[in-house]
Amino acid sequence: MINIISYLLIILGLLVVLYYALDIAWNLLKLVRAYLAPLFLPSEEKSLVHKYGSWALITGSTDGIGKAYATELAKRGINIVLVSRNIDKLQKTQKEIEANYSVKTKIIQADFSLGKKAVDIVKEEIGEIPIGILVNNVGKQYEYPMYLGEVPEEELWDIIKINVGAVTLLCKMFVENMRIRGKGAIVNVSSGSELQPLPLMTVYAATKTYVKNFTQALQYEYASKGLTIQHLAPMFVATKMNHFSDRIHKKSLFVPDAESYAKYAVSTLGVLDDSSGYWTHGIQTFFTKLPPEWIRMYIGGYLNQLFREDYLRNLKS
Ligand SMILES: NC(=O)c1ccc[n+]([C@@H]2O[C@H](COP(=O)([O-])OP(=O)(O)OC[C@H]3O[C@@H](n4cnc5c(N)ncnc54)[C@H](OP(=O)(O)O)[C@@H]3O)[C@@H](O)[C@H]2O)c1
Repeated sequence: MINIISYLLIILGLLVVLYYALDIAWNLLKLVRAYLAPLFLPSEEKSLVHKYGSWALITGSTDGIGKAYATELAKRGINIVLVSRNIDKLQKTQKEIEANYSVKTKIIQADFSLGKKAVDIVKEEIGEIPIGILVNNVGKQYEYPMYLGEVPEEELWDIIKINVGAVTLLCKMFVENMRIRGKGAIVNVSSGSELQPLPLMTVYAATKTYVKNFTQALQYEYASKGLTIQHLAPMFVATKMNHFSDRIHKKSLFVPDAESYAKYAVSTLGVLDDSSGYWTHGIQTFFTKLPPEWIRMYIGGYLNQLFREDYLRNLKS
């Protein structure tokens, strides 16, 4: 009897190991496929249109990751709705896209620090346009790493309205129509800062944790309805958001520019539900997750102290 139980336990153990080995191998394959895809871009073109529909809406799309992501989608033949706060930058981005790609575009001026008012503007302007891909990219962080007591109250409130409010209400606005059509994709951009509490960027990181949890729960609700719901969590990308320190504002192997980042990030759409979006960021995320959370928080706080010193030193000089 004891022998039979031992054999059964061994078989069970082997099955569990096999399951995890296959799971890891499958995820690795998907990763390799997503990150190699940009090298074979022509074969990727148009496939997103068939999969999700012909229109995409990207928030915060006049600069940085949002603008580069919109351009990548246009390159793949998708019509683009640009949503941002500055009309001159919107028109400039629209012109650039239309000059380079044969797609339709539409611009919507909306400042998400206005909360629901901005979301209502988007609703009215979109009308019947069937949005197949929604990219909730707009985001705000502190001017530079600060202690909570130093951050202006209005800035804190804006961060919550933009990073949490806009993402939530825009998902709500588009997800039902996507469900009815039985296809569509939502990309919610969080940040590597969601991996642990992050001192000196406390509220920013907390809002990104919201985005992650919200997105993963949406995956559960809508994946079975045929929708792709992606949580995209970049590490540092060289954009104006990181102006406070040259260490993360200048392009390097681990800090890509927005264009390189977006090229990879778009190719993970429909392949990886959770992604850092860029191959060196994948490596960083893997190693970041190894130590316990308190160590990660300590390192994050230490780095933010350095960035804060960079900013204050520059300010003085
Ligand atoms: N850069 C990074 O290292 C990094 C890392 C992790 C996650 N992220 C996330 O990636 C996303 C994009 O960041 P990014 O670095 O590309 O930022 P960015 O370069 O500062 O660009 C932000 C975009 O959003 C627009 N925007 C800002 N506030 C807005 C508002 N209140 N209403 C409407 N549009 C607004 C900006 O418009 P203007 O052109 O008028 O400024 C710009 O087009 C954010 O969610 C951010 O949290 C970035």
